Amino acid sequence: MNEMTSFDVEKIRRDFPIFNETVHGKRLTFLDSGASAQKPTVVLDAVRDAYSHTYANVHRGVHYLSQRSTELYEGARETIRAHMNAGSLDEIIFTKGTTEAINLVAQSFGQMEFQPGDEIILSYLEHHSNIVPWQLIAERTGAIVKAVPINQDGEFLLEEFSKMLTDKTKIVAVTHVSNAIGTVVPVKEIIDMAHAKGVRVLIDGSQAIPHMKVDVQALDADFYVFTGHKVFGPTGIGVLYAKNELLEKMPPYQGGGDMINRVTFEKTTFATGHSKFEAGTPPIVQAIGLGVAIDYVNSVGLDNIAVHEQSLLSYATEQISAINNVAIIGQAKHKAAIVSFTIDGIHPHDIGTIVDQAGVAVRVGHHCAQPLMDFYDVPSTVRASFAMYNNREDVDALVASINMVQEFFR
Ligand code: ALA
Repeated sequence: MNEMTSFDVEKIRRDFPIFNETVHGKRLTFLDSGASAQKPTVVLDAVRDAYSHTYANVHRGVHYLSQRSTELYEGARETIRAHMNAGSLDEIIFTKGTTEAINLVAQSFGQMEFQPGDEIILSYLEHHSNIVPWQLIAERTGAIVKAVPINQDGEFLLEEFSKMLTDKTKIVAVTHVSNAIGTVVPVKEIIDMAHAKGVRVLIDGSQAIPHMKVDVQALDADFYVFTGHKVFGPTGIGVLYAKNELLEKMPPYQGGGDMINRVTFEKTTFATGHSKFEAGTPPIVQAIGLGVAIDYVNSVGLDNIAVHEQSLLSYATEQISAINNVAIIGQAKHKAAIVSFTIDGIHPHDIGTIVDQAGVAVRVGHHCAQPLMDFYDVPSTVRASFAMYNNREDVDALVASINMVQEFFR
């Protein structure tokens, strides 16, 4: 698809059928794309078409449908390879999401590399899915998990990081964009600093991929993971990019069909490339849907999306900061379009419930980032997370609903 020449948010909204819905009789103000994004018609059609016209299992049949299904599934892999600028198709592994991708790397790379006393460096900005898998493998191997601190604005402290990199460091695993407060992390600098010490780096791109261009070769990331449902694709599909030189050495994560070369009761040899890490029937239609979602994003253009979202972020930040008793949590210089906030004396769950009555969908809670909430000494926040289909009317509706909350509790 060709990139749109000018960004037309109203046209984009028409591509997403959910915006025909009303909520409690009100216009839908959907500000929870950080949790999961809505789906455009092209993705819905692709899923329906795949099940209606081309569906069969992949890699297993000589018959027409199996071959057609395999072509579409492998075609999606190529779309994703090109989108991330990976060097080869073997470096793109389909998983069921970011969580599974990180568990795969933690278990497989960790089993291969970690010795007692080795160190795994994370940061205070991580989602639980980039903390707990490392703790599990650390427990089994005797490795130690450490976290790079942040400043009050929510910025990753490169100087502290540099002091923490030692001969014991075996991997650095950090988010590209904080899901809870929106900080854009300087991943290129982190990767360069880690590589200077021979340390591998995993980047969790779940919140970056829908908002910015990512080139894994320019970054020189060793592992880059993301999930499909946050980038307008189906649930149950995620991507692990990993360098070939690592995948060749890493042991399989799960055993089963499709990941083998030859099986006997005495010994099994494994398939090579991405197949070694894709045991069992894969999420065929979900992958096809993700490929179409990525095509859709490219038809709008990530540069256009970034400009639009940054302008919404400025407007939302300005409007929300102007409200009495509201504190924005996370004020990094480089932020994606996420605004997390608290209101003095009012519990985020009460705020979420009241604004919902006005048709406003936000996420409230700890956002699966409890260490970050502990850092700010808050149990939870209200989070408005924006996507390409949001407009200024959404910000106005959010602000009006926050005023309503303040009225209610006055
Ligand atoms: N990780 C998702 C979020 O940030 C679910 O809401």
